Amino acid sequence: MTTLEERPLLPADDPRHYRRALGCFPTGITVMTAAHASTRVGVTANSFASVSLDPPLVLWALRTDSPSLSVFHDARHFAVNVLAWHQEDLSRRFAKPADDKFDGLTVTEGLGGAPLLDGCAARFETRIAHQIPSGDHVLLVGEVMRYNNFHREPLVFLRGDHLWLDQPTIG
Ligand SMILES: Cc1cc2nc3c(=O)[nH]c(=O)nc-3n(C[C@H](O)[C@H](O)[C@H](O)COP(=O)(O)O)c2cc1C
Repeated sequence: MTTLEERPLLPADDPRHYRRALGCFPTGITVMTAAHASTRVGVTANSFASVSLDPPLVLWALRTDSPSLSVFHDARHFAVNVLAWHQEDLSRRFAKPADDKFDGLTVTEGLGGAPLLDGCAARFETRIAHQIPSGDHVLLVGEVMRYNNFHREPLVFLRGDHLWLDQPTIG
């Protein structure tokens, strides 16, 4: 006899309960950026993953109803800004729609004009290799052309909350 917790559930039965189960998986947090025709976009995303080392490929998933989708679709590059432990404000800033999410921020231009944020834990600049529609998201696969490891502790996302690991070190 299975207990209530052991009984498998169906994602469609209770989408919020399903999302809470997905939230048990801790992730880092990134801000994905791109530019096209002088429009810059940035999206907070925790769907980031490394796919392949040779060639070096990474991916993330973007909602198809995102206002930023057209720029990522038309751009040839995107940058992965891996947020450091003290950058929760940036995570929140890029997680809500705005006319110019970069207003007041110091950024530099990366490959294809993709904005690069200061103070991150790491950064990957990619050339977009594949765009694969997948349900209500598009998978964006990028080939890493260059990267930085700034050796800062990462910001972590778990069960809907921002956290950081003990003993954050900057250096
Ligand atoms: C921690 C966190 C992770 C997120 N991960 C993703 C993600 O992987 N893909 C996505 O499309 N949206 C993700 N979102 C939601 C987007 O950041 C949010 O919808 C944002 O408004 C998208 O930018 P846009 O409005 O310019 O499209 C995440 C939000 C948070 C707070």
